[in-house]
Amino acid sequence: MSLLSIIKDCGGIHNVLRVLIPDSRIIIEIHEFELLSAEAKKQAYNLTLKQVTYQQTVIENMNEFAAQLLQVGQLISDQQRQDISAYTAPVECEFRPDWHISPPQGLLNDPNGFIYHQGQYHLFYQWYPYACVHKDKYWAHLTSKDLVNWQWQPVALTPSDWFDSHGVFSGHALSQDDLLMLFYTGNTRIGEQRDRHTTQCLATSTDGLHFTKQGPVVPELPPGVTPHCRDPKVIRHNDRWLMLLGVQREDEIGRLAIYHSKDLKTWTFMALCGDELGDFGYMWECPDFFTLNKQDFIVIGPQGINSPDKSHTIAHHNGIVKAKLETSGKALLSDFQHLDHGFDFYAPQSLQTPDGRRIMSAWMGLPDEIDHPSADNGWVHQLTTMRELSYENGALIQKPIKELQTLRHTPIVLSEDETCFDLHSKAFELQVSMQWGSVLRLHQSESGYCEIRLDSAARRLYFDRSNTLIREGDSVRELALPDSASVQLQILSDSSSLEVFINEGEAVMSARVFSDKNATQLSFDGNVKIQAGWLLNKATAPFVS
Ligand code: FRU
Repeated sequence: MSLLSIIKDCGGIHNVLRVLIPDSRIIIEIHEFELLSAEAKKQAYNLTLKQVTYQQTVIENMNEFAAQLLQVGQLISDQQRQDISAYTAPVECEFRPDWHISPPQGLLNDPNGFIYHQGQYHLFYQWYPYACVHKDKYWAHLTSKDLVNWQWQPVALTPSDWFDSHGVFSGHALSQDDLLMLFYTGNTRIGEQRDRHTTQCLATSTDGLHFTKQGPVVPELPPGVTPHCRDPKVIRHNDRWLMLLGVQREDEIGRLAIYHSKDLKTWTFMALCGDELGDFGYMWECPDFFTLNKQDFIVIGPQGINSPDKSHTIAHHNGIVKAKLETSGKALLSDFQHLDHGFDFYAPQSLQTPDGRRIMSAWMGLPDEIDHPSADNGWVHQLTTMRELSYENGALIQKPIKELQTLRHTPIVLSEDETCFDLHSKAFELQVSMQWGSVLRLHQSESGYCEIRLDSAARRLYFDRSNTLIREGDSVRELALPDSASVQLQILSDSSSLEVFINEGEAVMSARVFSDKNATQLSFDGNVKIQAGWLLNKATAPFVS
């Protein structure tokens, strides 16, 4: 038999949801049992999973089988692209951001493949188009000339193949002359126990728009690692390539795995790194790597580490460590610090601009949380503001990218005695100086507000969204600040978010903030000074035009 004849027996490609080939089996997941031929009905059938199982021994020609697997993957992908076309139009929603990236429908999570390639920026994101839940992920694709206005492009990758049919998971891009390479994790689930299988895969494009899957380039797990092994980041180190992966060791400790390669196709395991950090969570996700001012850094998303204070109850953290790459390529890690002290910042990715700046974008959301007010209208989550990272005098500094200033329009001018003001918009930027003990309320209406207050005794900043429409996640974040006469804030606001850059970028706090439509007031006490402010224009919406 051939794979194509099996597909025919299973009712044809329109009856096939996915093909899986764990060990020596061929599993065909179908829509309707009745469409199976009499021959196919004789095979083992799992009613719950709607899966017909053949043994690979029925295949007569293995070379032809490999080619037909790719062909079938392509046909499933064509079908998936047709099916999602109804989900690329944005649904109307009062919480829809004016200038942040959000999905037209369904669920967005990690930014992926963030890169400058052939004259423009490319940004992909994890997307489940059909509902606000975490299921088989796609890679949505956006491009931009300025990092502010984004254009929708054809979906780059769909979960269509035997190695990624339960999710084209996160990964990074590499620009090699005309070739745009996407390294990602192929995720599959086998059997009723949904056993996870992960491989690291490659897809390539010569026009930057259409991608061809090359299949797994790292088909195996690193030694001593569970199938929680994902999110490849590829970097150049000396005369070879390194691939960094977030992994869980078999004793349920999070670590970083490193592979090396000469040609980006054949990869050899090198080391598990991170023992210097000790027992530091049960899994590390989404590594990134970059150098700032001669210091190498690695970004990790450790899950299950101790939280900095009682109000922080979420297991999923984001952070950055200093890295020392030994000649062997092994990384020594130290000095973990959080990248963002707010509620919603996870799985960041960065790129280098042609003028040498390091720009980062992250998921403004967290794993597990899906019950947010926008989900009532069929979409959930968004990406953060793009921020520029630098490393100055031993400190990591993060500032909104300068390109965002192009969105500024009407200046916000307040007279000396005004302490409450209606901006009639939630899209604005404010530069504020707050003295210790002062309180600033944003997104305020008769029914609620979001508050920033400076506690002078504790020398802490409290970011409090308990009087907003938030339904899931923490409602208070706190941050200890160094002693100073006042605290400088740069606040970026959009329809359902507030991002606060503190003391010239020494710390950042990002938050989704849901409030009612007319929550456009600002109020503060006499110890808050609004130094400058602007209403912000809408950016080009990142949807099918
Ligand atoms: C992080 C993450 C990644 C994974 C992806 C799946 O949010 O769990 O580790 O690749 O999301 O969508």
